[in-house]
This record gives sequence, structure tokens and C-alpha cells, in this order.
Amino acid sequence: MVEIALPKNSRIERGAVHAARPGAKRVRSFKVYRFDPDSGRNPRLDTFAIDLDDCGPMVLDALIKIKTEIDSGLTFRRSCREGVCGSCAMNIDGGNTLACTQAIEDIDGDVLVYPLPHMHVIKDLVSDFTQFWAQYESIEPWLRTESPPPEREQRQDPADRAKLDGLWECILCACCSTSCPSYWWNSDRFLGPAVLLQAYRWLADSRDENAGERLDQLEDPFRLYRCHTIMNCTNTCPKGLNPAQAIGNIKRLMVERDA
Ligand code: SF4
Ligand code: SF4
Ligand code: FES
Repeated sequence: MVEIALPKNSRIERGAVHAARPGAKRVRSFKVYRFDPDSGRNPRLDTFAIDLDDCGPMVLDALIKIKTEIDSGLTFRRSCREGVCGSCAMNIDGGNTLACTQAIEDIDGDVLVYPLPHMHVIKDLVSDFTQFWAQYESIEPWLRTESPPPEREQRQDPADRAKLDGLWECILCACCSTSCPSYWWNSDRFLGPAVLLQAYRWLADSRDENAGERLDQLEDPFRLYRCHTIMNCTNTCPKGLNPAQAIGNIKRLMVERDA
């Protein structure tokens, strides 16, 4: 059994240790955060020794195996298993990422699995996204037009469509926002990189006719300008997107408008 190194003052307790099946040769330990608010107990870190010869290649495969074969109470979100729904975002090996696209082999030693940082935990690896979704809704993430709609479809020039590349791929997993120190300390007022990237996605859309109003809504010392270009967001994004650049583009649009 591997000793779990916990911070001295940690309120996380040592949890259950589940040994690998007899005869297992390629064993890895998964140390998984557990928290049940109904129990009245502190969070704990459970250890599951998994035989990699009997497990799929991704961290999500190991979590599904644990839930199916060892502890059915383990709670986490997942849906697509292809990196497109954003449900399985969590903190793995110290970084925010998607459990379904994080290969176990790319992690050295024990695999540490925690929920996304600085969010309220509902249970185990499930974070409360209520505020995140309310912030997303606040930017009105849909096409807003003044002109009467065309009879059949809203067409877009290929060059204008290309301006949405690097934006539309965002799956709203919140890995970026929950890695941003400004969002940690001001998430009630700063929109955070994920929502700001989405805000720019609509500002950059040639078919949208409400850029002025969108910029008015963002012009605020907290909503937009709490970003201090620390770049954690861009370094973290599991889809390889650049929220920091999108935020920079919004700031540029503000300057151009006010010039
Ligand atoms: S660049 Fe801005 S949004 Fe991204 S991590 Fe830094 S402060 Fe947060
Ligand atoms: S920008 Fe990347 S990390 Fe942030 S929500 Fe979108 S996909 Fe997730
Ligand atoms: S399960 Fe959909 S992104 Fe991981």
C-alpha cells in the first residue's frame, strides 16, 4: 500500500484502501476525493488499486471500473466519452482536464483525482455549476438581430465563418475558469475565461447585430477587467483553445469603440 501524503493541516481524511485483484501485474493506485455532504463528515481520499491490464486507457475508464466493480457510490459526471460534452471535467494529477481524454499512461505514479477547484462540491467529483450557467446565460449566447430574419437561412461568408474557429469548439467544461486565480477570488462578479470566450464568440459573429449592447454589458471593472492575463486558462484548456486571447480581443474591441 502506498502512503498518502496529505497536507499537515488538511481537513481531508484518509479513506478506504481497496487492494488490486490477486495476480494483478500492472497495478496503479487511484486516489479519489470523496465527499458526501449528507454524512456530516469531512472529505476523504479513497485509494483504489487498479490492474491496468484489465482497464481501458483513460482515467474515465478507471473511474467507471471503480464504480462498476468496487464502489457503486462513487459519483461523477460523464456522457460522451469523446471529449465533446464537457461533463467529465475534473482535477487530475494537479491539472484541470477531461477524464475521458486523459490517458492513464501519461501520468507518473499515483493518479490523484479531485473535483474542479474552487467550486462547491455536490458530491465526490461533481461540482455545482449553478453560478457558471447563470453567468453563461447572462451574456445571451444566441444570435441577436434587429433586421427581419431571411425567409430560409441566415447565410455567412466563409471568411466570416472562419473567424469563429477557435471559439465554437468550446465545450463549456469550465476547466479554464476553475484554473483562473481571478475567478477563484471573484467568481461572483468576474465572468471568467470560459464565459468571456463565449461572449467573444458572439461578438465575432458577422450575423449578430448587437455588438454595442454586448460590449456595454461587459464594460465593468469586474465582469471583464478582472482578467490580469495570467494565462492559466489557455494553458489548461483540454480543447487547445485560447480564452486569454479571446478576452484580449474583447478588450481591443472596447478600445476601438471608445477611440
Ligand atoms: S488570462 Fe485572465 S482569464 Fe485567463 S487565467 Fe489569467 S486572469 Fe484568468
Ligand atoms: S475554453 Fe476550453 S477549458 Fe474553457 S470551457 Fe471552453 S473548452 Fe473548457
Ligand atoms: S465524457 Fe464528455 S467530455 Fe468527457
